[in-house]
Amino acid sequence: MFFFYKKKYSIDSNGVVTRKSHSNIALIKYWGKHKNKIQIPLNSSISYSLGEVYTVTRLIYQKKKKRNLSVRVFFSGKEKTSFLPKILEFFNRISYYCSYLRDYNFIIETYNTFPHSSGIASSASSMSALALCIMEIEKKLVSSLKEDFFFKKASFLARLGSGSACRSIYPGLVVWGYHQSIKGSNNFYATPYPYKVHSIFTKIEDTILIIDDEPKKILSSKGHQLMHHHPYARERFKCANKNMNKLISILKIGDFQEFGELIEHEALTLHAMIMTSSPYFLWMKPNTLKVIHTVWDFRKQSKKNIYFTLDAGANVHLLYPVQEKTSILKWIYSDLFSYCKKIIESFCL
Ligand code: DP6
Repeated sequence: MFFFYKKKYSIDSNGVVTRKSHSNIALIKYWGKHKNKIQIPLNSSISYSLGEVYTVTRLIYQKKKKRNLSVRVFFSGKEKTSFLPKILEFFNRISYYCSYLRDYNFIIETYNTFPHSSGIASSASSMSALALCIMEIEKKLVSSLKEDFFFKKASFLARLGSGSACRSIYPGLVVWGYHQSIKGSNNFYATPYPYKVHSIFTKIEDTILIIDDEPKKILSSKGHQLMHHHPYARERFKCANKNMNKLISILKIGDFQEFGELIEHEALTLHAMIMTSSPYFLWMKPNTLKVIHTVWDFRKQSKKNIYFTLDAGANVHLLYPVQEKTSILKWIYSDLFSYCKKIIESFCL
């Protein structure tokens, strides 16, 4: 396959590589993956990569004689053996495409600028930062490696760690999953959104309201699985496909109201899928609902362009054009702060 690394390489070096990768927020959500294929989505998704919320990863590699996978993980300065199974599974999966991984002892040192497992996509930024680090090593082994290949393969590897991570490789609007109307879109790696976007969508604020910073009780990987026997799954995939078509025209025309209504619809559909899966569960907390209703009331009386989206958790992302930043932020701190543990002033990259 295209991403195999077959060449003979010299492994005479030890070293350190460091990469940073941003989290992302999906506008059209990835929810559900093929049963018998590895990390292949059942619908296409699109996200904005986010400023201020990111992972920094340092990957230290030391050559060794025995060929096997050897990794230690440190998170915010502390060794985390609990992260090892996921990381080892990831290394094992990708070692098929990066055979050199078996020639080194690895130490991963990583930190996030936000709480992990709280609904801000920490697996997205951490898996993509790690994939970028691995590609930095591959670049040292293959001097002819082209930039385009570097990012495509990084996205391909990141996807094998966590689906949404493949979109975090690029800034801006990023698409993953084949969609008939989006040139270059495919199920294996993400690609930057290829069409021209109205200027209103090039500078968007995303204020993230952390309503719950405890690790999630139900992980998204479990939620994806539940789509296999979900009574409404088929309709959801059709709806996501249609919503992508709608979004393409909205992004071109620049209608922020339609954009906002579409992303709120997507967010609530995602949560509706979770609430109607078997077993069912609920990610929203009472304060999530209070925030949503307060935003709706404020929007109605102020006519401001402020809309929410939700990830796989209780936290709320508020999206609005940068032109409205001063007045909206003031309102957020005065009317929503009491519902939150923390507010992160992020923006779409
Ligand atoms: C709700 O990418 O976390 O954030 O592939 O199992 O790691 P895995 O799932 P993950 O799912 C993210 C789902 C979502 C929507 C999205 O980001 O598109």
